[in-house]
Amino acid sequence: MRYANITGWGKCLPPAILSNDDLATLLDTNDEWITTRTGMKERRISHVPVSSLATVAAARALACAGKQATDVELIIFGSTTFDEMCPNAASNVQKQLGAANAACMDVNTACTSGMYALTVATAMIKSGVVNNAIVIGAEVISTVMDWSNRNVAVLFGDGAGAFYLQADAQECGVIAESLGCYGESREILAVNGWGLKEAKNAVINNQLHWAFEGQEIFKKAVSGMDQACQKVLAKSEINADQIDLVVPHQANLRIIDTLAKRLKLPRDKVFINIQRYGNMSAATAPVALVEAIEEGRVKPNSLVLMPAFGGGLTWSAHLLRW
Ligand code: ACO
Repeated sequence: MRYANITGWGKCLPPAILSNDDLATLLDTNDEWITTRTGMKERRISHVPVSSLATVAAARALACAGKQATDVELIIFGSTTFDEMCPNAASNVQKQLGAANAACMDVNTACTSGMYALTVATAMIKSGVVNNAIVIGAEVISTVMDWSNRNVAVLFGDGAGAFYLQADAQECGVIAESLGCYGESREILAVNGWGLKEAKNAVINNQLHWAFEGQEIFKKAVSGMDQACQKVLAKSEINADQIDLVVPHQANLRIIDTLAKRLKLPRDKVFINIQRYGNMSAATAPVALVEAIEEGRVKPNSLVLMPAFGGGLTWSAHLLRW
Protein backbone atom coordinates (compact mmCIF):
# COMPACT_ATOMS: atom_id res chain seq x y z
CA MET A 1 0.00 0.00 0.00
CA ARG A 2 1.33 3.47 -0.91
CA TYR A 3 0.64 6.63 1.06
CA ALA A 4 1.51 10.28 0.41
CA ASN A 5 3.49 11.64 3.34
CA ILE A 6 3.61 15.40 3.91
CA THR A 7 7.34 15.96 4.40
CA GLY A 8 7.56 19.70 3.73
CA TRP A 9 5.40 22.74 4.39
CA GLY A 10 5.62 26.48 3.87
CA LYS A 11 3.53 29.64 3.84
CA CYS A 12 3.71 33.15 2.44
CA LEU A 13 1.73 35.91 4.10
CA PRO A 14 2.03 39.36 2.53
CA PRO A 15 3.46 41.87 5.02
CA ALA A 16 0.76 44.56 4.52
CA ILE A 17 -1.79 44.34 7.37
CA LEU A 18 -5.35 45.66 7.06
CA SER A 19 -6.83 45.91 10.57
CA ASN A 20 -10.48 46.22 11.58
CA ASP A 21 -9.79 49.84 12.50
CA ASP A 22 -8.33 50.44 9.02
CA LEU A 23 -11.52 49.03 7.47
CA ALA A 24 -13.61 51.35 9.63
CA THR A 25 -11.98 54.28 7.79
CA LEU A 26 -13.36 52.95 4.45
CA LEU A 27 -16.68 51.41 5.44
CA ASP A 28 -19.51 51.84 7.90
CA THR A 29 -18.17 49.19 10.28
CA ASN A 30 -16.14 48.89 13.47
CA ASP A 31 -13.73 46.61 15.32
CA GLU A 32 -16.36 45.51 17.84
CA TRP A 33 -18.83 44.30 15.14
CA ILE A 34 -16.19 42.46 13.14
CA THR A 35 -14.59 40.85 16.20
CA THR A 36 -17.81 39.66 17.81
CA ARG A 37 -19.45 38.46 14.56
CA THR A 38 -16.41 36.81 12.97
CA GLY A 39 -13.41 36.54 15.36
CA MET A 40 -11.25 38.47 12.86
CA LYS A 41 -8.91 41.28 13.94
CA GLU A 42 -6.75 41.78 10.85
CA ARG A 43 -5.97 40.33 7.43
CA ARG A 44 -3.12 40.56 4.88
CA ILE A 45 -3.26 42.32 1.50
CA SER A 46 -0.94 41.31 -1.32
CA HIS A 47 0.73 43.69 -3.74
CA VAL A 48 2.10 40.84 -5.86
CA PRO A 49 0.29 38.27 -8.03
CA VAL A 50 -1.01 35.03 -6.53
CA SER A 51 1.64 33.00 -8.39
CA SER A 52 4.39 34.93 -6.59
CA LEU A 53 2.91 34.21 -3.15
CA ALA A 54 2.46 30.57 -4.19
CA THR A 55 6.05 30.26 -5.44
CA VAL A 56 7.48 31.51 -2.14
CA ALA A 57 5.29 29.11 -0.13
CA ALA A 58 6.23 26.23 -2.47
CA ALA A 59 9.96 27.05 -2.27
CA ARG A 60 9.71 26.98 1.54
CA ALA A 61 7.92 23.62 1.46
CA LEU A 62 10.63 22.24 -0.84
CA ALA A 63 13.39 23.51 1.43
CA CYS A 64 11.59 22.07 4.46
CA ALA A 65 11.48 18.66 2.74
CA GLY A 66 15.15 18.95 1.74
CA LYS A 67 14.34 18.54 -1.95
CA GLN A 68 15.47 20.26 -5.16
CA ALA A 69 13.03 21.90 -7.57
CA THR A 70 14.08 19.42 -10.29
CA ASP A 71 12.93 16.52 -8.07
CA VAL A 72 9.28 17.65 -8.27
CA GLU A 73 7.02 15.49 -10.45
CA LEU A 74 3.70 17.32 -10.05
CA ILE A 75 2.47 20.79 -9.03
CA ILE A 76 -1.21 21.30 -8.21
CA PHE A 77 -2.30 24.89 -7.61
CA GLY A 78 -5.61 25.44 -5.78
CA SER A 79 -7.12 28.93 -6.04
CA THR A 80 -10.02 31.04 -7.29
CA THR A 81 -7.99 34.13 -8.12
CA PHE A 82 -5.59 32.90 -10.80
CA ASP A 83 -3.50 35.60 -12.50
CA GLU A 84 -4.69 34.30 -15.89
CA MET A 85 -6.92 31.48 -17.12
CA CYS A 86 -4.49 30.34 -19.81
CA PRO A 87 -1.73 29.35 -19.30
CA ASN A 88 -2.42 27.84 -15.91
CA ALA A 89 -0.92 29.14 -12.67
CA ALA A 90 0.88 25.91 -11.74
CA SER A 91 3.05 26.32 -14.85
CA ASN A 92 4.04 29.79 -13.61
CA VAL A 93 5.14 28.29 -10.29
CA GLN A 94 7.04 25.58 -12.19
CA LYS A 95 8.87 28.26 -14.17
CA GLN A 96 9.66 30.43 -11.14
CA LEU A 97 10.85 27.44 -9.07
CA GLY A 98 12.80 25.84 -11.92
CA ALA A 99 10.82 22.63 -11.43
CA ALA A 100 11.20 21.63 -15.07
CA ASN A 101 10.25 17.96 -14.52
CA ALA A 102 6.84 18.65 -12.97
CA ALA A 103 3.40 18.13 -14.51
CA CYS A 104 1.21 21.16 -13.73
CA MET A 105 -2.50 21.63 -13.08
CA ASP A 106 -4.88 24.09 -11.41
CA VAL A 107 -7.89 23.27 -9.22
CA ASN A 108 -10.70 25.73 -8.46
CA THR A 109 -13.24 24.82 -5.79
CA ALA A 110 -13.10 28.24 -4.05
CA CYS A 111 -12.15 28.05 -0.35
CA THR A 112 -11.69 24.27 -0.46
CA SER A 113 -9.29 24.44 -3.45
CA GLY A 114 -6.16 23.72 -1.40
CA MET A 115 -7.83 20.68 0.17
CA TYR A 116 -9.26 19.33 -3.10
CA ALA A 117 -5.73 19.78 -4.55
CA LEU A 118 -4.41 17.70 -1.63
CA THR A 119 -6.88 14.93 -2.54
CA VAL A 120 -5.83 14.91 -6.21
CA ALA A 121 -2.10 14.86 -5.39
CA THR A 122 -2.52 12.16 -2.75
CA ALA A 123 -4.55 9.99 -5.15
CA MET A 124 -1.95 10.41 -7.92
CA ILE A 125 0.86 9.41 -5.55
CA LYS A 126 -1.09 6.46 -4.11
CA SER A 127 -1.91 5.17 -7.59
CA GLY A 128 1.72 5.44 -8.69
CA VAL A 129 1.24 8.10 -11.38
CA VAL A 130 3.87 10.25 -9.60
CA ASN A 131 6.15 9.76 -6.61
CA ASN A 132 5.91 13.27 -5.19
CA ALA A 133 3.99 16.50 -5.56
CA ILE A 134 3.76 20.09 -4.46
CA VAL A 135 0.26 21.13 -3.38
CA ILE A 136 -0.57 24.83 -3.12
CA GLY A 137 -3.55 26.76 -1.76
CA ALA A 138 -3.13 30.47 -2.54
CA GLU A 139 -5.43 33.42 -2.98
CA VAL A 140 -5.39 37.16 -3.62
CA ILE A 141 -9.07 37.66 -2.92
CA SER A 142 -8.37 41.41 -2.49
CA THR A 143 -8.13 41.67 -6.30
CA VAL A 144 -11.80 40.69 -6.75
CA MET A 145 -13.13 42.34 -3.61
CA ASP A 146 -15.98 44.83 -3.70
CA TRP A 147 -14.47 47.32 -1.25
CA SER A 148 -17.75 49.21 -1.00
CA ASN A 149 -19.64 46.17 0.39
CA ARG A 150 -19.17 45.83 4.15
CA ASN A 151 -20.92 42.43 4.13
CA VAL A 152 -17.92 40.85 2.41
CA ALA A 153 -14.99 43.30 2.48
CA VAL A 154 -14.28 42.68 6.17
CA LEU A 155 -14.17 38.88 5.85
CA PHE A 156 -11.29 38.09 3.51
CA GLY A 157 -7.51 38.32 3.19
CA ASP A 158 -4.63 37.14 0.97
CA GLY A 159 -2.02 34.42 1.50
CA ALA A 160 -0.51 31.12 0.40
CA GLY A 161 0.29 27.74 1.92
CA ALA A 162 2.08 24.78 0.32
CA PHE A 163 3.03 21.16 1.03
CA TYR A 164 5.55 18.73 -0.39
CA LEU A 165 4.15 15.19 -0.58
CA GLN A 166 6.33 12.10 -0.95
CA ALA A 167 5.33 8.45 -1.56
CA ASP A 168 5.69 6.37 1.60
CA ALA A 169 4.96 2.77 2.65
CA GLN A 170 3.86 3.68 6.21
CA GLU A 171 0.30 4.82 6.93
CA CYS A 172 0.58 8.65 6.80
CA GLY A 173 -0.72 11.77 5.10
CA VAL A 174 -4.39 11.77 4.06
CA ILE A 175 -5.89 8.45 5.21
CA ALA A 176 -9.54 9.29 4.48
CA GLU A 177 -11.51 12.12 2.95
CA SER A 178 -15.03 13.12 1.96
CA LEU A 179 -15.81 15.68 -0.72
CA GLY A 180 -19.10 17.17 -1.86
CA CYS A 181 -20.96 20.19 -3.17
CA TYR A 182 -24.34 21.89 -2.63
CA GLY A 183 -24.63 22.91 -6.29
CA GLU A 184 -28.29 23.88 -5.92
CA SER A 185 -27.19 26.76 -3.65
CA ARG A 186 -24.25 27.91 -5.80
CA GLU A 187 -25.74 31.38 -6.38
CA ILE A 188 -25.65 32.38 -2.68
CA LEU A 189 -21.89 32.92 -2.79
CA ALA A 190 -20.68 34.28 -6.10
CA VAL A 191 -18.43 36.94 -7.57
CA ASN A 192 -20.55 38.16 -10.48
CA GLY A 193 -18.55 39.74 -13.28
CA TRP A 194 -15.53 37.48 -12.66
CA GLY A 195 -15.36 35.10 -15.62
CA LEU A 196 -16.18 34.74 -19.29
CA LYS A 197 -19.96 34.65 -18.85
CA GLU A 198 -20.03 38.24 -17.67
CA ALA A 199 -18.88 41.50 -19.20
CA LYS A 200 -15.22 41.06 -20.11
CA ASN A 201 -13.99 44.23 -18.48
CA ALA A 202 -15.95 44.07 -15.23
CA VAL A 203 -12.80 43.78 -13.13
CA ILE A 204 -11.06 46.64 -14.87
CA ASN A 205 -14.17 48.80 -14.62
CA ASN A 206 -14.73 47.86 -10.99
CA GLN A 207 -18.12 46.29 -11.69
CA LEU A 208 -17.71 43.16 -9.60
CA HIS A 209 -20.74 42.39 -7.51
CA TRP A 210 -20.62 39.84 -4.73
CA ALA A 211 -23.70 37.75 -4.08
CA PHE A 212 -23.31 36.77 -0.43
CA GLU A 213 -26.16 35.47 1.72
CA GLY A 214 -24.22 35.33 4.98
CA GLN A 215 -26.71 33.52 7.18
CA GLU A 216 -27.54 30.87 4.55
CA ILE A 217 -23.82 30.34 3.89
CA PHE A 218 -23.28 30.01 7.64
CA LYS A 219 -25.86 27.21 7.90
CA LYS A 220 -24.59 25.38 4.81
CA ALA A 221 -20.99 25.72 6.03
CA VAL A 222 -21.85 24.03 9.32
CA SER A 223 -23.96 21.26 7.76
CA GLY A 224 -21.50 20.63 4.91
CA MET A 225 -18.46 20.36 7.16
CA ASP A 226 -20.36 18.33 9.78
CA GLN A 227 -21.57 15.90 7.10
CA ALA A 228 -18.04 15.61 5.64
CA CYS A 229 -16.51 14.97 9.09
CA GLN A 230 -19.10 12.32 9.97
CA LYS A 231 -18.48 10.53 6.67
CA VAL A 232 -14.71 10.57 7.17
CA LEU A 233 -14.97 9.29 10.74
CA ALA A 234 -17.37 6.51 9.70
CA LYS A 235 -15.19 5.55 6.74
CA SER A 236 -12.05 5.31 8.86
CA GLU A 237 -13.84 3.77 11.88
CA ILE A 238 -12.49 6.48 14.15
CA ASN A 239 -14.42 8.21 16.96
CA ALA A 240 -14.33 11.98 17.24
CA ASP A 241 -12.65 11.71 20.65
CA GLN A 242 -9.67 9.98 19.02
CA ILE A 243 -8.94 13.13 16.97
CA ASP A 244 -5.91 14.99 18.33
CA LEU A 245 -6.45 18.26 16.48
CA VAL A 246 -9.06 19.84 14.20
CA VAL A 247 -7.64 22.32 11.70
CA PRO A 248 -10.73 23.81 10.05
CA HIS A 249 -11.31 26.33 7.28
CA GLN A 250 -11.41 29.73 9.02
CA ALA A 251 -14.41 31.63 7.63
CA ASN A 252 -16.01 32.64 10.93
CA LEU A 253 -15.14 31.78 14.53
CA ARG A 254 -18.83 31.11 15.26
CA ILE A 255 -18.97 28.57 12.41
CA ILE A 256 -15.91 26.83 13.88
CA ASP A 257 -17.39 26.81 17.39
CA THR A 258 -20.73 25.45 16.15
CA LEU A 259 -18.99 22.68 14.24
CA ALA A 260 -16.77 21.78 17.24
CA LYS A 261 -19.90 21.53 19.42
CA ARG A 262 -21.58 19.21 16.92
CA LEU A 263 -18.46 17.03 16.87
CA LYS A 264 -18.31 17.24 20.70
CA LEU A 265 -14.70 18.40 20.54
CA PRO A 266 -13.30 20.89 23.08
CA ARG A 267 -11.88 24.25 21.93
CA ASP A 268 -8.33 23.23 22.92
CA LYS A 269 -8.43 20.57 20.20
CA VAL A 270 -9.29 23.17 17.54
CA PHE A 271 -6.60 25.24 15.82
CA ILE A 272 -7.63 28.86 15.23
CA ASN A 273 -5.72 31.63 13.43
CA ILE A 274 -8.68 33.56 12.00
CA GLN A 275 -7.84 36.59 14.16
CA ARG A 276 -4.59 37.14 12.21
CA TYR A 277 -5.66 36.51 8.60
CA GLY A 278 -9.45 36.41 8.19
CA ASN A 279 -10.66 34.04 5.48
CA MET A 280 -7.91 33.51 2.87
CA SER A 281 -10.17 31.21 0.83
CA ALA A 282 -8.02 28.47 -0.78
CA ALA A 283 -5.00 29.41 1.37
CA THR A 284 -6.85 29.20 4.68
CA ALA A 285 -6.69 25.51 5.58
CA PRO A 286 -3.14 25.00 4.20
CA VAL A 287 -1.80 28.02 6.15
CA ALA A 288 -3.64 26.87 9.29
CA LEU A 289 -2.03 23.43 9.05
CA VAL A 290 1.41 24.96 8.45
CA GLU A 291 1.00 27.16 11.54
CA ALA A 292 -0.34 24.27 13.66
CA ILE A 293 2.81 22.31 12.75
CA GLU A 294 5.07 25.32 13.42
CA GLU A 295 3.46 25.82 16.84
CA GLY A 296 4.06 22.18 17.80
CA ARG A 297 0.34 21.34 17.86
CA VAL A 298 0.78 18.42 15.43
CA LYS A 299 2.76 15.64 17.11
CA PRO A 300 4.15 12.45 15.50
CA ASN A 301 1.35 9.92 14.89
CA SER A 302 -1.34 12.59 15.57
CA LEU A 303 -4.75 12.28 13.91
CA VAL A 304 -5.68 15.63 12.35
CA LEU A 305 -9.16 16.40 10.98
CA MET A 306 -9.47 19.20 8.40
CA PRO A 307 -13.02 20.29 7.46
CA ALA A 308 -13.43 22.98 4.81
CA PHE A 309 -16.16 24.83 2.97
CA GLY A 310 -16.34 27.26 0.05
CA GLY A 311 -18.15 28.74 -2.93
CA GLY A 312 -19.90 26.21 -5.12
CA LEU A 313 -20.94 25.42 -2.38
CA THR A 314 -18.14 22.88 -2.02
CA TRP A 315 -17.36 21.04 1.21
CA SER A 316 -14.72 18.59 2.34
CA ALA A 317 -13.07 16.87 5.28
CA HIS A 318 -9.66 15.21 5.36
CA LEU A 319 -8.30 12.90 8.04
CA LEU A 320 -4.51 12.96 8.26
CA ARG A 321 -2.16 10.66 10.12
CA TRP A 322 0.97 12.63 10.98
N1 ACO B 1 -20.02 46.05 9.94
C1 ACO B 1 -21.11 46.44 10.62
N2 ACO B 1 -22.34 45.98 10.38
C2 ACO B 1 -22.46 45.04 9.41
C3 ACO B 1 -21.35 44.58 8.67
C4 ACO B 1 -20.10 45.12 8.97
N3 ACO B 1 -18.98 44.73 8.32
N4 ACO B 1 -21.79 43.64 7.80
C5 ACO B 1 -23.11 43.53 7.99
N5 ACO B 1 -23.52 44.38 8.95
C6 ACO B 1 -24.87 44.57 9.47
C7 ACO B 1 -25.93 44.13 8.53
O1 ACO B 1 -26.19 45.12 7.57
C8 ACO B 1 -27.10 43.89 9.46
O2 ACO B 1 -27.68 45.13 9.74
P1 ACO B 1 -29.30 45.25 9.87
O3 ACO B 1 -29.66 44.37 11.04
O4 ACO B 1 -29.51 46.70 10.13
O5 ACO B 1 -29.83 44.76 8.58
C9 ACO B 1 -26.44 43.41 10.74
O6 ACO B 1 -25.03 43.78 10.63
C10 ACO B 1 -26.53 41.93 10.98
O7 ACO B 1 -26.20 41.26 9.79
P2 ACO B 1 -26.28 39.71 9.73
O8 ACO B 1 -26.04 39.28 8.31
O9 ACO B 1 -27.51 39.23 10.41
O10 ACO B 1 -25.05 39.28 10.65
P3 ACO B 1 -24.60 37.85 11.02
O11 ACO B 1 -24.59 37.70 12.46
O12 ACO B 1 -25.27 36.79 10.19
O13 ACO B 1 -23.06 37.85 10.56
C11 ACO B 1 -21.64 37.15 8.78
C12 ACO B 1 -22.73 38.10 9.20
C13 ACO B 1 -20.40 37.43 9.59
C14 ACO B 1 -21.34 37.38 7.29
C15 ACO B 1 -22.10 35.69 9.00
O14 ACO B 1 -23.38 35.51 8.47
C16 ACO B 1 -21.17 34.69 8.38
O15 ACO B 1 -20.03 34.56 8.78
N6 ACO B 1 -21.66 33.94 7.39
C17 ACO B 1 -20.85 32.93 6.75
C18 ACO B 1 -19.73 33.53 6.05
C19 ACO B 1 -18.90 32.51 5.42
O16 ACO B 1 -18.97 31.37 5.77
N7 ACO B 1 -18.12 32.93 4.50
C20 ACO B 1 -17.27 32.18 3.76
C21 ACO B 1 -17.76 30.81 3.41
S1 ACO B 1 -17.22 30.27 1.95
C22 ACO B 1 -15.79 30.85 1.78
O17 ACO B 1 -14.95 30.69 2.67
C23 ACO B 1 -15.55 31.63 0.52
